[in-house]
Amino acid sequence: MNGAAANPALDPAVQVARDREDVVVGDDIVRHRLATRVVHWSTAFFFFVALGCGLPIYSPVFGWLAHLFGGLAVCRWLHPWTGIAFTAFTAVMFVQWVGDMKLERSERGWLGRKLVLYLRHAGDDPDVGKYNGGQKLLFWAVSVFALALLVTGTVLWFPELFAQALREASILLHDLVVILFSMAIVFHIYLGTVAEPGTFGSMTRGTVSKAWARLHHPRWYREVTGEAARDDSRPR
Ligand code: HEM
Repeated sequence: MNGAAANPALDPAVQVARDREDVVVGDDIVRHRLATRVVHWSTAFFFFVALGCGLPIYSPVFGWLAHLFGGLAVCRWLHPWTGIAFTAFTAVMFVQWVGDMKLERSERGWLGRKLVLYLRHAGDDPDVGKYNGGQKLLFWAVSVFALALLVTGTVLWFPELFAQALREASILLHDLVVILFSMAIVFHIYLGTVAEPGTFGSMTRGTVSKAWARLHHPRWYREVTGEAARDDSRPR
């Protein structure tokens, strides 16, 4: 067994992925550098902690979750601060990715038919770059949702500073956004793990196989490798 196989940290692609991305290393392509992965997982961590200590505040049905944090009083204190940490990491994630996330005219169909075709694996579009239309939509949804949670959450944190109508609207909007956000994240986790084999490694090792890139992101594959994309192999 060679050293890289026994210890992934010695894998040359994983080493390159510490500070570079969009480069070919052997049969792999670096997709997300370490800084991007740390910010993504920090965002995800604070999302789930804020959700976990927010749900018992929302309804006694989730009271059992409060025990994980030391009781409801701790949840009431912890929730706004983890919400702030979540918003801060989302802001950094926004800056890191916004340059790659401009929705092209041809990608607007991702709100309907293209998403259904994608889920049926009916052939990926040869013009898909580093992110497909669905991923870009998720990025913009996360950004808008996080901003909405920050604004409505601030009103709920300091209720004495705001009019009653605004407080009531904020409660409604805060809850609605949490529901939509959670649904989007369940879908996102499904697509990033079991639905698309080979994708999860892009957020852990930082790399994907060339075959994965050629199949799912052919234009990005062509840009990074300089080769013409062929659709003849499945991702490993
Ligand atoms: C356990 C939970 C999660 C898993 C397994 C996961 C997995 C992934 C993976 C594998 C990618 C890279 C996709 C690619 O390179 O093509 C990614 C990207 C991304 N993730 Fe997550 N993620 C999780 C939680 C979250 C959360 C909580 C948020 C936001 C609050 C989030 C926001 C994003 C965004 C905006 C992208 C870039 C767009 C995209 O690729 O869809 N993720 N995630």
